[in-house]
Amino acid sequence: MKIISVVGARPNFMKIAPFIKAIEKHNLVSSEKIEHVLVHTGQHYDDRMSRAFFDELGIPNADINLGIGSGTHAEQVGNTMIEFEKVIKERKPDWVVIVGDVNAILACSVTAKKEHINCCHIEAGLRSGDMTMPEEINRLVADRISDLLLTPDRLSSENLLKEGVPESKIKFTGNIMIDTLENNRSKAAGLSIVEIIKQNSVNHNEFIMMDNKVPDFAVMTLHRPSNVDRKEVLEPIVRFMLDEVCPEIPLIWTIHPRTRKMLDSFGLLDEIMSHKNLFVLEPLGYLEMLKLNMHARMILTDSGGLQEECTVLGTPCLTLRWNTERPITLTEHGGASVLVGNNITRIRKEYQNALSKGRNPVCPELWDGHTAERCLEEILQYKPVL
Ligand code: UD1
Repeated sequence: MKIISVVGARPNFMKIAPFIKAIEKHNLVSSEKIEHVLVHTGQHYDDRMSRAFFDELGIPNADINLGIGSGTHAEQVGNTMIEFEKVIKERKPDWVVIVGDVNAILACSVTAKKEHINCCHIEAGLRSGDMTMPEEINRLVADRISDLLLTPDRLSSENLLKEGVPESKIKFTGNIMIDTLENNRSKAAGLSIVEIIKQNSVNHNEFIMMDNKVPDFAVMTLHRPSNVDRKEVLEPIVRFMLDEVCPEIPLIWTIHPRTRKMLDSFGLLDEIMSHKNLFVLEPLGYLEMLKLNMHARMILTDSGGLQEECTVLGTPCLTLRWNTERPITLTEHGGASVLVGNNITRIRKEYQNALSKGRNPVCPELWDGHTAERCLEEILQYKPVL
C-alpha cells in the first residue's frame, strides 16, 4: 500500500509525527509494507514555524515540498492543488491522508478525489459553526468528500452523522495530538523555564527567580485573523494585558509572525516590547511550549490545539474566541477552557476566576496516546461502501 500524507502548517506537524511512527512500527512487524510519502505544502516556511518541529518530533524530511508559502487563501489553495496534482499523477498513491483544518486539507482532498484516490481525514467532524473561519470551510469540504473520517471525540462523530455522512465512513479513533503530548511529556519536563525565556526572548527581559523558584506566570498566544487583523479588536486586548495582567503576573507572549506584523503596523509593538513584566518570545518549539503549559497559571489563546493540551494538562485556558470546534475542551464538558471572545469585561472576569483556580487534568475518552495506531488500523481495514 502507498500512502501520501500531507502537512502544511505548524499545527499539522504534531499530528503527523505519531502517524509516521505508527507506519514505521507496522513496517517492522508486517510483511505487507506500507510505502509512505510525506508532502509538505510549504505554507509555513520559517524555521521556527516548521523545521524546528520536524527536528524535535523526529519527523523525517518531507519527500516533497510544494513550496507554496504565503499568499491569499485562493493563492495558497490554488497553488497547492496545481502542485499536488502533479505529485498524485506521478506517485499514484492508494491513500491521501490529511490532518487538521489548514488550507492544505481543502486543496489536497479535492485534488485526490478528482484523481479517484481514497482520502482519509484525521481529526474529522470538528465544527465551530462559524463560516467566517477559513478552517471551518476547509473542514466542511474535506469531510464531505473524504472516504474515511477519523474523529477525535464522539461529539465530532455526531456532527458528521447529523450532516448525513454514512456511519460506515466514521470511526472514532481519539485525539492524535495527545499521542505527541504523551510521547514528549517527560522530555519537556526536563527543560528549564528560565532558559526557554532567555533563548527565545525578543525583548530581552530577564525572568527573575523568586527564592530559587520560578514565579507564577501566564502565557498568551494569538494568531486568528478575527483577533489580530483589526486594530479596534487587537488594541483593547493588548491594553488589558499591559494595564491589568502584567502588573499582577508575568505574561509570556509567544508571537506568531502574523500577529507581530499586525502589531507593528498598528504602532503597538514598541510599547509591548518595553514593558518590564511582558516577556515577548519568538514562536516556540513543541517541547518548550509544552513545558510552559505544564507550569503556567493560565493560558490565554485562540489556538485550538492549546485548548486540547490545556484540558489534558489541566491548565485553566481562556479561549479568545466566541465559538469553538472543540466543545469537549470546555469546562461544561469537563475540560479546562472557557470562551471569552474578545470582550474585555468577559476576559477580565474569567482571568480573575482562573487566578483562583488550580490545575484539573482530565483525559477525554481515547485521548490515551494510541490514536495513531488506531488510525492506521482503520486505513488498513477499510472496505469501500458499495
Ligand atoms: C495557519 C492556519 C491555521 C493555524 C495556524 C497556526 C489556515 C487557513 N490557517 O494560520 O489554521 O491555526 O496556521 O499557526 O491554513 N508567516 C511567516 N512565516 C511562516 C508562516 C507564515 O512569516 O512560516 C506569515 C505569512 O507570511 C502571513 C502570516 O504569517 O503573513 C499568516 O500565515 P498564513 O499561512 O496565512 O496563516 P496562519 O495565520 O499562520
